[in-house]
Amino acid sequence: MNAYRIRPLDKAVDTTAFQCGQPSLDEYIRRYASQDARRNVARVFVATPASDDSHLAGFFTLSAGSIACTELPEALAKKLPRYPVPVALIGRLAVDVGFQGKGLGSILLVDACQKVANASAVLAMAGIVVEAKDDSTASFYQHFGFQHLPGSPTRLLLPAAAFFAS
Ligand SMILES: CC(C)(COP(=O)(O)OP(=O)(O)OC[C@H]1O[C@@H](n2cnc3c(N)ncnc32)[C@H](O)[C@@H]1OP(=O)(O)O)[C@@H](O)C(=O)NCCC(=O)NCCS
Repeated sequence: MNAYRIRPLDKAVDTTAFQCGQPSLDEYIRRYASQDARRNVARVFVATPASDDSHLAGFFTLSAGSIACTELPEALAKKLPRYPVPVALIGRLAVDVGFQGKGLGSILLVDACQKVANASAVLAMAGIVVEAKDDSTASFYQHFGFQHLPGSPTRLLLPAAAFFAS
């Protein structure tokens, strides 16, 4: 049986006690996430322990975006058109301190990439971009194959070829 249930944010989830170590992310899930979902600015997914549907253990957001070819690593830019290309954005991803270091961040990231790969059957994307909060979280994403975008210490990209079935 899965240890966590991942589903779109709903009213059954208690966001008030969530703390991940980044106050801006705590505030986002408490105050702005449901509004973003309602306005179609972001899809918000939450993870709760299988035994407790209301306990927020982690969350991530997905949105559509685009990136200029000048912002891409040169090797990838060479294979793409010179105009901005579509990407998926993992705008935010966070795990409550009580659940950190136990693999949930990895589960959420893999789930986000799978959702993007599924969506890519009907909506083309050249890759997934994440906005890490600092150097340390950037290394979390590098662990999974994301590469720094040139000139940005906190924006990283996973090219489509790394996660789409060919
Ligand atoms: C970053 C974060 C999502 C990781 O979640 P987690 O559940 O603790 O991560 P996992 O247990 O799945 O760890 C996966 C791997 O990444 C590594 N890792 C975890 N946090 C890391 C960090 N901050 N920096 C670098 N590596 C990290 C782990 O050591 C682990 O490596 P291993 O597989 O070799 O053991 C979590 O610490 C968090 O929410 N931090 C605060 C919010 C934040 O900064 N979010 C990201 C920016 S939006």
